[in-house]
Amino acid sequence: NWSPKSFIEQTVKELKNQLGNDKVILALSGGVDSSVSAVLLSRAIGNNLTCIFVDHGLLRKNEAKKVLEDYEHLGLNVIGVDASEKFYRELQGVTDPEQKRKIIGKGFIDVFDEEAKKLKDIKWLGQGTIYPDIIESVNITGMVIKSHHNVGGLPEKMNLKLVEPLKTLFKDEVRRVGLELGMMPHLIHRHPFPGPGLGIRILGDITPEKVRILQDADDIYMSMMREEGLYDKVWQAGAILLPIKSVGVMGDERTYEYTIALRAVNSVDAMSADWTRLPYEFLAKVSNEIINKVRGVNRCVYDISSKPPSTIEWE
Ligand code: XMP
Repeated sequence: NWSPKSFIEQTVKELKNQLGNDKVILALSGGVDSSVSAVLLSRAIGNNLTCIFVDHGLLRKNEAKKVLEDYEHLGLNVIGVDASEKFYRELQGVTDPEQKRKIIGKGFIDVFDEEAKKLKDIKWLGQGTIYPDIIESVNITGMVIKSHHNVGGLPEKMNLKLVEPLKTLFKDEVRRVGLELGMMPHLIHRHPFPGPGLGIRILGDITPEKVRILQDADDIYMSMMREEGLYDKVWQAGAILLPIKSVGVMGDERTYEYTIALRAVNSVDAMSADWTRLPYEFLAKVSNEIINKVRGVNRCVYDISSKPPSTIEWE
């Protein structure tokens, strides 16, 4: 007779016993798991929990600001760090997907580490690990810090113990717990988003200008998906910026600009996925809107590949 309510009562009690007056640090990603973990921990130990939210500059448009506002609204003690410039600098000229992942993962840990060092007397590292993360060898939907399975030696270096309040739960249970905790539905019913963010949706090298183009296109796609009631019917969606320019025409002018690929998939566990049959009318509207509104884009295509043999992300 598991219920979100009894889980919360039980877990808060256990966390209080386990943590006493100890201080805990936790990296928030904006995703469901880390957010629900943070709210549970703060129910138990209040401001002895410090959360760190690192903006690597590769989030969705206005996401960092919106998510920080949500966290503050939830009463979390959160430090937001805008590290965009560091990441753009380190990623300059890098085209290999795995290399990008490494740079972003390491940068993330560096920033987190630096913030953590400023805090005194931290004893625990909180993490949003859920049951499937433990039974699968790779975490597929979480943030970098988790998909790399540790914080780059941070727990050892700082002598931190791990506290993982969600490690017995499946994703749908985490969502129910979040809603029971009074968290906003838009925080709970989010599509998965990769830790390296738009960094692996800009094919080839990353520049601030390309980030701007992709954020604008992606924002149009996602907003229209919400408006048309399609967001909750899709497992994951997003826009991808291709490194190819092609010829177009605007008024009397020839254009030579970038291509945006739209991706939407349905899946259960990300191991396999089928491309979503989005309505043609919807795709037509999104394409028009992106090409008309986003400077630097003159062509839009829809990805009709399934996994396997394709993957959900393009990098
Ligand atoms: P693929 O592209 O492998 O993606 O079919 C499966 C799921 O995993 C997400 N993904 C990542 N998540 N770090 C993450 O935290 C990563 O490097 C990463 N690569 C892919 C992807 O968004 C999808 O949900």
